[in-house]
Order: sequence, then structure tokens, then C-alpha cells
Amino acid sequence: MSADDVQGLLARAQALSPALADRLVAWQRQEGRHHLPWQQTRDPYRVWLSEIMLQQTQVSTVLGYYDRFLRAFPDVQALATASLDEVLALWAGLGYYSRARNLHRCAQVVVSDHGGLFPGNAQALAQLPGIGRSTAAAIAGFCFDERTAILDGNVKRVLTRALAWGGNLSVAAHERALWEAAELVLPQRAADMPAYTQGVMDLGATVCSQRKPSCLVCPWSDLCEARQQGRPEAFPVKTRKLKRSKRESWWLWLEHDEHVWLIQRPDTGVWAGLWTLPLLDTELAALALTQALGEGDPEPQPPIDHVLTHLDWRLHPQRLVLARPARPAVMGTLAGPAVGGDAAGTGRWVALDQLHSVGLPAPLKKLLPVHRP
Ligand code: ADE
Repeated sequence: MSADDVQGLLARAQALSPALADRLVAWQRQEGRHHLPWQQTRDPYRVWLSEIMLQQTQVSTVLGYYDRFLRAFPDVQALATASLDEVLALWAGLGYYSRARNLHRCAQVVVSDHGGLFPGNAQALAQLPGIGRSTAAAIAGFCFDERTAILDGNVKRVLTRALAWGGNLSVAAHERALWEAAELVLPQRAADMPAYTQGVMDLGATVCSQRKPSCLVCPWSDLCEARQQGRPEAFPVKTRKLKRSKRESWWLWLEHDEHVWLIQRPDTGVWAGLWTLPLLDTELAALALTQALGEGDPEPQPPIDHVLTHLDWRLHPQRLVLARPARPAVMGTLAGPAVGGDAAGTGRWVALDQLHSVGLPAPLKKLLPVHRP
């Protein structure tokens, strides 16, 4: 891709502005989504929370979590003063837990450095933990009518099609060029920014799908360059394929007197900061540890297949109910073994009726008897 192509992209963006924005704003007001809970507010705290939850997670999943989270933490002060464990417990199941840690840190920074008020423009928002350029723009567009472009995965697809842009977006200069084009096609009127921002998201989520775009109902159907070329699915141009790996682990499920032994995962890596059963790389390692407890062999449970972004993970739970409390030295070794090169965390007995109060990864929430009070 040459400089000419970047010039061509920007020229097409210029030529299609303001038609793209005008059509999209009118379409969003008529046909777009209006009843999502985070659309009923201009409160940056609520909008920010929704945007963080919606990164990498579908609307239908977020809906249940969003209201529950806001009931527990109705404002940024409440979130800032909560413990990280409380936050992770309400986040558990949404995945990508670094989002929850950054969310908590961000709330603390807003309280300590900004007097409890989110900054009122995208550039300052983007300085906060966990808020990238696109999320900052979404918050500023929705809450403050700021004329600034979002560019998440859906929007990249919509814009590369409308502008028939064949640049490889893993090349930084090409991604920068698309940001520039996204800024060029913004609506002229600042008051249109919330409808435009929601519209470009709605278009990507409901019309301009990856495999089968519904061009016949698209407000841009007669403007879209990719459609004119008869090949909307050809954009965006595919970049490197993600390399997936497989892993098997053995999950030691030890109980004693209505308590289960859990270890906290380290601050980085898979399930960062969540509480899990001890994980071992081999069945032999799991057996060696249970033998040290001197109460017979554990009972294998049906395996659980857990799919992460880069990893297909098969977990083999092995359950053993202990009649006697194990010596602390032996339990200590259960916090020790590393899995897949990660460091291990610290362990403790958690009462079965308190499992709702610790952050558990989604497959463990299904395996253990978690009851909300
Ligand atoms: N995805 C990211 N932000 C969104 C929003 N505000 N509404 C719907 N889906 C989204």
C-alpha cells in the first residue's frame, strides 16, 4: 500500500462526507437501538462502565452484569472504595479480567486526581487506566457531544467497506490512515455525535456483518464503495491469523468440612486475580499431591472444555473430600506448582456458602455449588 492509496482513502472519505454521517444519523434515529440501559443516560460513569464491559463481550451478555454491577457500585466513589475482590466477584464470567482491574484503578484515579468527576474530553479520558482512544471517543461522543471518531473492530469493518480501503490494518501507518478517514466522515453538527456514534456501532453489529452483510437494508448501500465493487466481504483485508494452542490441566477439587481449597491466580495471565482450584500440568502431579494428603485417590469428574481467545483448554476436575484437615505445610504445596509457565498464587479454605463473594472463573462457577444469598 503506497502513499497514493492513503491519499485515495482520504479523498474518498472527503467526497462521501457529509452524506455518510447524515444518512447514518437519520437511520440510527429511525432504525437503531434505543433501549439499551446505557443509552438512557449521559452520566460518564455509567457510559464508561458499559463501554468497558462491551469490549470483547456481546450486548446480550453484558445486560445481566451491567445492572447488577451498578446496584453494587452506583457511582465512581463506591467503586473506588470497594476491594478488588468485590469487583472481581461481580465481574466473574465476563472474561478478560485485566478490564476489571483497570476499571477499579481508573475509578480510584478519577476520585484521587479528578475530584470524582470524569474528565470532559476524549484526550484526557484516554490518559486513564483501561481507556484507549476508541473508548475515550465513545464516552466523549455520547456524554459531551465531542466530535471525535471511534474505531473498534466493528467500525473498522464498516468503514473499510464504505471506503473500499484495502490497507493491512496491522501496519501502524495504515491504521493511522483509517483513523484519519474516520475523523473526516464525522457529522458536522456536534449534537449529532451520540446518534452517529451509536449508529456506526449498530450498523456494524446488526447490518454490516462479517460474513453476510445485509446490504439491501443498509443506509449506505448506494454510497458504499465495496458494494459498488460487488465484494463487501473482501474488506477489511485479512491480516495474520491468530495462532491457537491447546492445553490440558488437572484441577484439584479438595473439600473439608463444607469448605473448598482455592488459590488466587497471579495478577497477570489467564484469570488474573481470580480464585480457582489448584491447577496441575499432569495427572501424575495431581495424584502425587493427593497422595501426600493420605486420604485415598481423588474421584475424576467429567472434563470441562474451556475456550479462551488463544487457547483451547481441557480441565480435568479431580474431587476429594477430606475427613481430616490437611497439615498447612501440605496445603501450602498446593498453591505452589506453576501451570503453563505462570507463577502461582496463595491459597485458602473458602466456606461453600461464601463462594458468591470471591471472583471465580466462569467454568468454576458452574462446577462448584455457588449460591447467591
Ligand atoms: N459496543 C460497544 N459500545 C456499544 C454501545 N454503546 N452499544 C452497543 N454496543 C456497543
